[in-house]
Amino acid sequence: MQSTLRIETHNLHLAAELIAQGKTVAFPTETVYGLGADALNEQAVERIFLAKGRPSDNPLIVHIASLDQLDQVASTVSPLANILIQRFWPGPLTIVVPRKPNVPNLVTAGLDTVAVRMPEEPLARELIRLAGRPIVAPSANRSGRPSATTWESVLADLDGRIDAIVCGNPTRIGLESTVVDTTGSEPTILRHGAITQEMIVQVCGSVSSGNSELQLRSPGTRHRHYQPQAKVQIVDDLGRLEPTLQRCGMIGICDPSEMESREIQLRKDFPQATIRYCASLDDYASNLFEFFRHCDTLGVVRIYCQQVAPHGLGRAIMDRLERAAQ
Ligand code: TXA
Ligand code: MG
Repeated sequence: MQSTLRIETHNLHLAAELIAQGKTVAFPTETVYGLGADALNEQAVERIFLAKGRPSDNPLIVHIASLDQLDQVASTVSPLANILIQRFWPGPLTIVVPRKPNVPNLVTAGLDTVAVRMPEEPLARELIRLAGRPIVAPSANRSGRPSATTWESVLADLDGRIDAIVCGNPTRIGLESTVVDTTGSEPTILRHGAITQEMIVQVCGSVSSGNSELQLRSPGTRHRHYQPQAKVQIVDDLGRLEPTLQRCGMIGICDPSEMESREIQLRKDFPQATIRYCASLDDYASNLFEFFRHCDTLGVVRIYCQQVAPHGLGRAIMDRLERAAQ
């Protein structure tokens, strides 16, 4: 493959034509950038795995723009799945449902289920609508690396390996969608995201807690994930670290009124550090992966990440931090 075509957002029809021709096209969603291809074209799907260097036992999410398209890939939609769809679609929620036989095996990694999501980002839905078919889209990064939340980061990983990219805005949420298995009597969260466990319990009454079988059901959880080149270390409080002259990265959260004084203090103790304080959990989530990538371009050797309470969006943040720190 030669160079990757940059497509402006007002030229979405061109991106849609390329998808229909079996090409790979990256595009923004509200969570992270996705690497899209025609979900029902096995050769196109194969090109995604090649571009990302993704293990073939890790299935993909099918992105849809209408409920008709859900019927094209799902054999049944349980009452539980319907509750989640009505409450959270379009949005950052992926549901796992029994698949139809026409879905290529490569998409589902041979499982008898398929993961489906209707994104909230209007540009993503318009692309799917114009392409006239469901689009599979894993996160648009080299396998194992942090997901990309800007088109520049997509190209840093995949320039020359994918056919085109829609150069949209940075993504709003910054962490991948929540993945929920809806094939049992209770929902099972396979990956935490911006649709939180608390929100799911509120509409479904309960969630079943994860167990080792969960690993089998969401093969993606077995693989290395979200890792920058720098070593990631989770800490209680950035302010309590031993001072060092080493080049390090530091990301944490604090009240906006204290941000300036905390930064001044840290700069004294860590003159070579790259510091990012976030004002909220939303801010932490949307900055995290881009911060990892930024630290890598600076050649930072260690990134200190402040832990957060594992509630609400904090669960998704801690999940990504723990995987990055492995
Ligand atoms: O926010 C997102 O979900 C982004 C954007 C582009 O939509 N996509 C994304 O895709 O994060 P990916 O491929 O990086 O992650 C898909 C996750 C993996 O953990 C995979 O194992 C899981 O979904 N998954 C896919 N199909 C599944 C299935 N049939 N059963 C269980 N887990 C599945
Ligand atoms: Mg991914």
